[in-house]
Amino acid sequence: MFVKHLTLIDFRNHKNTEISFESGVNLLVGFNGQGKTNVVEAIEYVSTLSSHRVAGYQPLIKKDASGALIRLKVSHETRDVIVDLELNRENPNQLRINQSPIPKMRDVLGTVYSVVFAPEDIDIVKRDPSNRRSFIDQLLVQFSPRMSGVISDYERVLKQRNTLLKTARSTGTKGSALSTLDAWDESLIKFGSEIVQTRLSLLERIKPHLTEAYQAIATTNNEPTILMKSSLLGSQVVDDYEETELEYLTISELQKVPDLYREKLSSVRNKELERGITLIGPHRDDLVLLLGDLPAKGYASHGESWSYALALRLASAKLLSAESKTGDPVIILDDVFAELDAGRRDRLAGLVAGNEQVIITAAVAEDVPSSLKATVFEVSQGEVNRV
Ligand SMILES: Nc1ncnc2c1ncn2[C@@H]1O[C@H](COP(=O)(O)OP(=O)(O)OP(=O)(O)O)[C@@H](O)[C@H]1O
Ligand SMILES: [Mg+2]
Repeated sequence: MFVKHLTLIDFRNHKNTEISFESGVNLLVGFNGQGKTNVVEAIEYVSTLSSHRVAGYQPLIKKDASGALIRLKVSHETRDVIVDLELNRENPNQLRINQSPIPKMRDVLGTVYSVVFAPEDIDIVKRDPSNRRSFIDQLLVQFSPRMSGVISDYERVLKQRNTLLKTARSTGTKGSALSTLDAWDESLIKFGSEIVQTRLSLLERIKPHLTEAYQAIATTNNEPTILMKSSLLGSQVVDDYEETELEYLTISELQKVPDLYREKLSSVRNKELERGITLIGPHRDDLVLLLGDLPAKGYASHGESWSYALALRLASAKLLSAESKTGDPVIILDDVFAELDAGRRDRLAGLVAGNEQVIITAAVAEDVPSSLKATVFEVSQGEVNRV
């Protein structure tokens, strides 16, 4: 698939921007702070209902405007789809697909697939578990838009359960509070297990693509592996960010997840009542990114970490093209060429050049290999012009 046309009204610093993209490679160039990332962020938002820069959509609306509009015309294999996503500060957001109003925002998922690689992605490799959970969940939602609902349901139940645990802690645990807790537990296990299981399955499917992508970009024989460190296993309970040895959950245990969940939940019940917080579940799990035998976090060099992050995104793109019926996802490379050495730049160019559409941003056009300069746009003060 590819984005044919993008309209932005009052989106970030774009008051009224029209861009006709081409299939193949599109390059957006311009000085810092002119609105390049803002353009690709709009496509990312329609694609995943999230941004790699902020949580929530309020910052996406132009300062002093009451709402923003992103309109995308996307070419699928045999037809075009027009998506209108209206983000409003006060009123509910609105979605239209081919002019028909669609009540649920999450139904926008699947209209355009994209994979964004940006400098912030180094955090997936180097920083805390929440970055890795966001990586996997953002991808998960593209494969299975329904999971967006499951994730919100899980978060809602988690919040309510935490409130109940807090109340139980401050008032002393009473019989009725405990039976309400049992009811919440069932919902928690249902939604939570589904998240854990779909994450596991996704990791299994991305594996071969990751190995291939890493070797293509880094040209070393170090094998990347992803393991799922799960709070559902073992006897330990850990805080997020804590480097404790948790056990790994494997694909062979997929069917057992709800049982493991139930068992562990009952074994930590007293601790949860003591602490007033839910101690296990997908919100406490982590992915361990191994390079050879060592975790990339804390061991990999800066260059290796970059290659790893890039390989995760390239592998995501490969898996999306392999499993979706609408062709390749749009590959977005936001400001990444400046960070790479010449060898990696050329290898990256070679890897993405054949994708149906690639959208690249760069402050310095010379950082981008010349094979990736087919269609060039200049971005200046929120205005975009084809060169
Ligand atoms: N909600 C908003 N309303 C108005 N302006 C905004 C809003 N959000 C961001 N901006 C402005 O957009 C500009 C940043 O745009 P963007 O991040 O797209 O820059 P860029 O061209 O990618 O720059 P760089 O090369 O540094 O990455 C900043 O000047 C910022 O103040
Ligand atoms: Mg930028």
